[in-house]
Amino acid sequence: MDKKTATDLAVSLRQEIDEHNYRYHVLDDPKISDADFDRLLRSLDAIEKEYPDLVSPDSPTQRVGGQPSEVFASITHRVPMLSLDNAFSVDDLRNFVRRALNLVPDAEISFIVELKVDGLAVSLQYENGLFVRGATRGDGETGEDITQNLRTVQSIPLRLQKPLTLEVRGEVFMPRSSFLALNEERERRELPLFANPRNAAAGSLRQLDPKVAAERNLDMVTYGLGYSPDFSPPSHFEALMAMRELGLKINTNIKIISDLEEVVAYCEGWREKRYELPYDIDGLVIKINDLALQQRLGTTAKSPRWAIAFKFPAEQAVTRVEGITVQVGRIGTLTPIAELAPVKLAGSVVRRASLHNEDILREKDVRVGDHVIIQKAGDVIPEVVEVVKAKRTGKEVSFIMPEVCPACGSAVSRLPGEVALRCFNLACPAQVMERIAHFASRGAMDIEGFGPAAAEQLLGAGLIQDVADIYYLPENKEALLALERKADKSVENLLAAIEQSKSRPLWRLIYGLGIRFVGDRTARLLADYFGSLDNVTEATMEELVNVPEVGPKIAESVISFFALDSTSEVIEKLRRAGVNFVQEQKAEEAGPLNGKTFVLTGTLPTYSREEVARLIEDAGGKVTGSVSKNTDYLVAGEKAGSKLDKAEKLNITVLDEASLFKLLGQGEQGNTIADTK
Ligand code: IVH
Repeated sequence: MDKKTATDLAVSLRQEIDEHNYRYHVLDDPKISDADFDRLLRSLDAIEKEYPDLVSPDSPTQRVGGQPSEVFASITHRVPMLSLDNAFSVDDLRNFVRRALNLVPDAEISFIVELKVDGLAVSLQYENGLFVRGATRGDGETGEDITQNLRTVQSIPLRLQKPLTLEVRGEVFMPRSSFLALNEERERRELPLFANPRNAAAGSLRQLDPKVAAERNLDMVTYGLGYSPDFSPPSHFEALMAMRELGLKINTNIKIISDLEEVVAYCEGWREKRYELPYDIDGLVIKINDLALQQRLGTTAKSPRWAIAFKFPAEQAVTRVEGITVQVGRIGTLTPIAELAPVKLAGSVVRRASLHNEDILREKDVRVGDHVIIQKAGDVIPEVVEVVKAKRTGKEVSFIMPEVCPACGSAVSRLPGEVALRCFNLACPAQVMERIAHFASRGAMDIEGFGPAAAEQLLGAGLIQDVADIYYLPENKEALLALERKADKSVENLLAAIEQSKSRPLWRLIYGLGIRFVGDRTARLLADYFGSLDNVTEATMEELVNVPEVGPKIAESVISFFALDSTSEVIEKLRRAGVNFVQEQKAEEAGPLNGKTFVLTGTLPTYSREEVARLIEDAGGKVTGSVSKNTDYLVAGEKAGSKLDKAEKLNITVLDEASLFKLLGQGEQGNTIADTK
C-alpha cells in the first residue's frame, strides 16, 4: 500500500473505530460484533506497523504504551478536587436544603440526583480535544499522574468529538463481575485478594506498569467539570449531556427533581434496587442543577454547598450463630465459618459468614448461640462484625479450633508469620483433588486427558490417594477399565500420557508438587540452581535464599514442605515409579529448536501463547515479540494480524499449531507433545 492510501485509510479507520467505541461504551448500543471491531483495530495496527510515522497519540492502538514508570509524578489540581458532605438521614438532607435556601432565598431550586458509584475519583485533562493528562484526587490539592493507566480504560476517549480544552472529573470503577473474576484468579495464584471492587480499582490504577491496568477491565463515568473556562453550560444536566456528546461516558441513571420529598423517595428506591446494578454504589449524590446557583453557593474548604451525598449505611443484619464449622481450603488453610440462621442481606440470603482465622475468632469471641451483626465487605463477602453481647443468655458455647484437620485427622499447625492454621498432609482429601489436578495440569506435568474430572473420578474410586499414585495406575488397568465410560482406547491413551510425563523437566515436577508460594517461575529457578529434586529436598535455608528471587518466605515454605513425612512418602513413590528427578541438559545445547527464533501471533486452537512459548523455550528455541529478518518462524493462529503480513513479506516460514508440534516432535521434548495431541 502506498503512503497516501495508508494515510487516508488510517484516518478513516480511526474515525470508524472511535465511532464504534463510542456506541459501545457511551451509548451502550453497539452496531458491530466484537470480532468485527477487532478486525478494524487489526487493520489499523497493520497500517501503523508498516508506516510507524502514521501512529498518532490518540490512535486506538495506542492505549497501552510506554514503559512502566518508577514513581508517579504529582499533579496540582487547578481547581481543588473537593469531597462531599454526607447525609445519613432524611433530616440531614433537609438541613442541606435549608442551608442552601438561607443563602439564596430568592432561588427556585431544582436538584439532579445521580448514583454515587463506588470507585476512585479522577481528573482528566483534554487539550484541543486530546487526552493529555489524568490524575488521582490525592489530598484534593495534589494528585498523582496516572495518565498511562487511564489511557487503558476503554471508556475514556483519547480524543473528544470537538477540539475543546477542558478538565472533567469522574469515577473509575471495576464492575462486580470483573472484581469476582480477578479475585478468583488471584486466589488460584495465591495472591492476596482485594477486599472489594473499590480497592481493586484503586490498586489497578496505582500499578506502575500500564499493562497490568489494561488487563483489569476498569470503567469510568464522568460526573462533573474541573478547570474548564471555555466551557460553560447553564446547568449540570446540560453539562452532562454536552460531555456525553463529546464522547465521555456518563451514568444515565440521573433524575431532575424539584421536590425534596420526591428526592428522598427516589433515594430510598435505590436502597434495594442497587443490587441489580452490575457495579457497587454506596449512595446517591444530590446536586443543585443550576450552575449559576452553584457558583453563588460556593464551597467550604472541604466540600461544595451545592451538593451532598446520601449514603447507604453498610448493610448489616443481626442473626444467630447456629454452629461453627471449619473449612479446609485448597492449600490446606483452615477457616472457621459461622453457620447462621438464614437472613436477608444486601440483596441475597446469607447462611454462612467467614470468621477468617483463629485470631479473629478469639478477638471477636464468637460463640455458638450468639447473636451477631453481619455485613458484606464491599457488598460481596459476608463477615461477622461483632457479637451482640447484650443478647447473651449464658448458654452460648465457645468454639476451639481443632488440633487436627477435620478432613483427614492429621495435626495442624501455623507457618511462622501466618495467622492461619494449616493442614500439611499431602493426602488430605480436602486438598488432594486440587493437588492432583494441579500436578497433572498442562502448566505442570502436562498429562493429557487427566483433568479435574478424571482426578475426581479416580479419587472417588479409590484408585489414587496422592499424586504419586498416578504412576501406579498401570498396575490397576483392570479397575480403570471397569470405571464408568472408560473405554479401552481412552485408558490406553491415559496410560501412555502418564508414562510420557515421567520424563518432564525437573521444574515441572517441582511446580506440580504444589509447594506454597512456589509458582512455575520459582520452580524453574530452583531446578536451575539445585539440578535435582534430591538437592532441593535437602536444601538449607542459607542455600535457598541464595537462589535468585527466593526470599525467606518461599524458603521456609520449601523447607516445611519437604520436612513432612507425607511429602517423603510421595517422593519415594515417585522415585520408584521412575519419574525424572534431575535437571535435563540445558535446552540450548540439546533442544530440537536450538538457535531458532520464533514469533507468536493470533489465537492458537489448543494452547495459549504462554504455553507455546514455554514449549519452544524448553526445546531450545527463543521467542521474541516482533517479526524481523532474524525471525526463523512465525507461529500464527486465528486472527493473526500485521505480524503475519510482515512475515509473509519477509518470506519467513509460517507455522500453524500442528506444524509447530511436528517440528517439536523431531526432538525428545517434542515427541511427548506431538504424540498426545
Ligand atoms: S460529585 C465536589 N458525583 O464521591 C465533589 N461524586 O464522597 C464532586 N462520587 O470524591 C463530587 N459518584 O469520588 C460526585 N455522581 C457523583 C459521584 C461522586 C461518586 C465520589 C467521588 C467523590 C466522592 C465524594
